[in-house]
Amino acid sequence: MEQRTHDTPWDKFAKEDPMFYITTRRKKRWREEDAFWQSGEVTAQFIWDLVAPHITSYELAIELGCGIGRLAVPMAKKFNRLKVVDISPHMLQKLRERCESFGVGNLSCCLPTDPWWEEPADFIYSALMFQHLERFEEIEEYVQRIAQCLRGAAFLQCDTRPRNWFVAARRMVPDALLPRTQRRGMRRHRRDPDAIRALLHMVGLRIVAERDPGTELHVFIVTQRPPPLTPSSLRTTTDADEREGEDQT
Ligand SMILES: C[S@@+](CC[C@H](N)C(=O)[O-])C[C@H]1O[C@@H](n2cnc3c(N)ncnc32)[C@H](O)[C@@H]1O
Repeated sequence: MEQRTHDTPWDKFAKEDPMFYITTRRKKRWREEDAFWQSGEVTAQFIWDLVAPHITSYELAIELGCGIGRLAVPMAKKFNRLKVVDISPHMLQKLRERCESFGVGNLSCCLPTDPWWEEPADFIYSALMFQHLERFEEIEEYVQRIAQCLRGAAFLQCDTRPRNWFVAARRMVPDALLPRTQRRGMRRHRRDPDAIRALLHMVGLRIVAERDPGTELHVFIVTQRPPPLTPSSLRTTTDADEREGEDQT
């Protein structure tokens, strides 16, 4: 993945006020900082309830776009190892500090340019990240990598609200005139859900469930697609059945 990681908008957000940029809630609206981490516990449980039936092994999970670990800290308890990926080195640094204070020792940090996809993963999840990727090619690249290493299930969240003229017009407005949440890097990019479905199919992944389609929190639960039956695999089955039948007579 050819991506610049220093001085990106997200690295600046991480230095300025990561909790605001991750959840778009001002600190004073969190009655206490703990509420940020509690929201992570709730969301991690929501994710887990959707994917757990599709997961059979608990060796390695991967989070894409982990931020400062709101979800990674609770999710790390469920797997032997958790690999987290983020474009912002500052987010990852804050996550490391958080892990130290939470006593989480089974987590390793990667930049998108590191080969995070090179070993099989039982579970891959990404919440609130795909919506911020400006180019569809970036989503394609992530999805191809996921298909390369997934052996269990993945939870992928995208914004699939319909596009409209207002959203298109807003893109022409300079950042300085926009509220913080709508500036470059932070703004959400709406995607055609059929384009996401086609992409998942193209790389060999199967959608086993969807949740809240057409919203900013559209979830795709995916697994590997079983290989199609070929004439030779059918023949092998039939031959074996015949031999079994012969033994019985
Ligand atoms: C809204 S935050 C979500 C963080 C975390 N998933 C959560 O729910 O608490 C989005 C995160 O995605 C990261 N990010 C943005 N673009 C990225 C990219 N191209 N590759 C990896 N991470 C990216 C940002 O640095 C940020 O930490």
